[in-house]
Amino acid sequence: MPAHVVVGGFFGDEGKGRVAAYLALRYRPWAAARTGASNAGHTVVYRGERFRLRVSPAGFVNPSTRLYIARGALVALDVFLDEARGLGLRGRLFIDPMTGVITREHVERERRDEYLMKTVGSTGTGVGAAMVDRVLRRLRLARDYPELEPFLADTQAELMEALDRGETVLVEASQGYWLSLYHGTYPYVTSRDTTAAAALSELGLGPRDASRITVVLKAFVTRVGSGPLPGELPREKLEELGWVEYGTVTGRPRRAAPFNPELARRAVRANTATDVALTKLDVLFPEARCRRSWGELPPEARKWVAWVEEEIDTPVSLIATGEDVECTIDRSRELGLD
Ligand code: IMP
Ligand code: MG
Repeated sequence: MPAHVVVGGFFGDEGKGRVAAYLALRYRPWAAARTGASNAGHTVVYRGERFRLRVSPAGFVNPSTRLYIARGALVALDVFLDEARGLGLRGRLFIDPMTGVITREHVERERRDEYLMKTVGSTGTGVGAAMVDRVLRRLRLARDYPELEPFLADTQAELMEALDRGETVLVEASQGYWLSLYHGTYPYVTSRDTTAAAALSELGLGPRDASRITVVLKAFVTRVGSGPLPGELPREKLEELGWVEYGTVTGRPRRAAPFNPELARRAVRANTATDVALTKLDVLFPEARCRRSWGELPPEARKWVAWVEEEIDTPVSLIATGEDVECTIDRSRELGLD
């Protein structure tokens, strides 16, 4: 299988990290590549250990997988170096000379910007400001920082060569469809496009490099920051339902609403999804907790998944039934996806 793209279908935080980590363990891809920027946090729980990733691909859980950061991505220097050191990724993690670097000044510029912080509800991680500098062609890139020298590689060339040899590359996109600068709920969006096409473009790959595009949808919809959220439920209701979550990067409480077929349908179509991964099924159906096969799911849960499939007209290949990567139901084989 060539490139397999994992992309979010709602407002981010659908569980792309845990899905990518599962896929990395299952398929042992030659490489995992991360796009986007360090405003996104990907949480992975594997064998009881919790990892909060800001820049590294979640595919790091498979030790033989090489890790790449896209050329079109933006990283904060300290976040990158801390994570590389903390996870012991030196020698395995590569960043492109042309990847953009976010500085303290970008963070400060955003945090002073009341419109961005209060109206839009930005994470204030400097990503938008760095993007502005990139567009104005004054942003400094990874090649301008001696500290990054040991990590530099022509990521586009290495991934192209791997794909041409028939290796598998797992592409991890960030945020979600409805936070896209072009297609989301503007102006309550992030500073980049968040589609599968954009993720491939950030890596310098083409649409035909991808043979599988998995859109990740959570069993309920969450959103941090401002902007519309159809069917949003009050805080007390979320507590009652057990839908309370906090942002990985900012710690802000996430707003939430029931699963939304209209939002899902558009995201699936725009990403030309081959399949969907559904996460947090156990939050809707506690009896489903950590079940690992379709047959073990309670009938109501199976019925609900079938309803989702019908609504979005796309097969659900993966179902997350618990926080740990190992709590996954995988129907990829029976669906002929691998
Ligand atoms: P910014 O991209 O940090 O400026 O934030 C703009 C909007 O996108 C805000 O509503 C943020 O909460 C949201 N956002 C940015 N990154 C993420 C993410 O990784 N998960 C969820 N929301 C995000
Ligand atoms: Mg997140």
